[in-house]
Amino acid sequence: MENGKDILILGIESSCDETAASVVKNGRVILSNCIASQADFHEEYGGVVPELASRMHVDAVYPTVQKALSDAGVALSDIDAVAVTYGPGLVGALLVGLSCAKGLCEVSGKPLVGVNHLKGHIAANYLCFEELEPPFLCLCVSGGNSMIVRVDDYTDMTVLGRTRDDAAGEAIDKIARVIGLGYPGGPKMDKAGQGGDTSRYVFSKTHMGDTLDFSFSGLKTSALNLINGLRQKGEEIDIKDFTASYQHAIAEALLKNTMTAVEQTGIKKLCLAGGVSANSFLRAAFDKEAKKKGIKLYYPALQYCTDNAAMIASCGYYEFMNGKRDTLDLNAYPSLQM
Ligand code: KG4
Repeated sequence: MENGKDILILGIESSCDETAASVVKNGRVILSNCIASQADFHEEYGGVVPELASRMHVDAVYPTVQKALSDAGVALSDIDAVAVTYGPGLVGALLVGLSCAKGLCEVSGKPLVGVNHLKGHIAANYLCFEELEPPFLCLCVSGGNSMIVRVDDYTDMTVLGRTRDDAAGEAIDKIARVIGLGYPGGPKMDKAGQGGDTSRYVFSKTHMGDTLDFSFSGLKTSALNLINGLRQKGEEIDIKDFTASYQHAIAEALLKNTMTAVEQTGIKKLCLAGGVSANSFLRAAFDKEAKKKGIKLYYPALQYCTDNAAMIASCGYYEFMNGKRDTLDLNAYPSLQM
């Protein structure tokens, strides 16, 4: 809100395999949230095919923006700024959303605000909890990133720890593929492990010394060795117990460092964000520990954990209010850091 006037942000997201557009009021109220998902298409290849993703974004992006505006009951002229993901993500995919946003800004004269996709994931929590305000800690876990962030202010944040190799989502997706669950692995593995024995299979864990960093490649390799070892003996793993044990091990590794961050910073307000924050094993582990330690825990509703444009519009609102404006030569940054 500025001088009593509502601020409307059009958000556009195309960093991976979802083409999304949304209109959000004052960073918190979702007026529309449209997603054209390509997941079914990529399923037959067992993962996202970058070039095909870009082409599908080209077809979907403008109709998705039009639908977001019409669902919100507004015209482009009513919008205060266009917020768009400019990284991290697949470069071709990012360029499609970015080009669309730039075109809209060029024709309408509206300001362009580039948004870091990871900051967007954190902002998903603002859409679900109206009382939530910084400072807080956030465990941001997605397909490409796993990090613990200290959110000092809406636009000002510091990474306290990050993965040195695989992201948690990557470690889940790769093992899901090996055991034949297909793509997207995360939700399928979550479902497969329901009711399974979380202690039946044991995986080696890597500790990154005194840091808050993570490592998931050792855990993933240990799961692969277990599968291959059993297959060589003509045995198969028990999918339910194996997936329950594996997800539990990942959740425990994420929990351990996050709780150390809580102790070190003294901040007892904690958010989860990113696609993996939809995981029921992770949520259960954090729920239990938060209750025990008196930590106020937040995680977004399931549809806001994975990629969407409402979170980009929310984050874009705070960047916009903080004075961020980008020019039309803004580029896509596939490896953009926090
Ligand atoms: O945040 P996101 O949609 O995209 C990125 O920005 O990376 O995250 C995608 C990741 C994938 O690895 C996907 O398998 C994982 O989130 N994921 C899950 C679940 N839902 C999505 N992982 C575990 N359990 C889930 N329920």
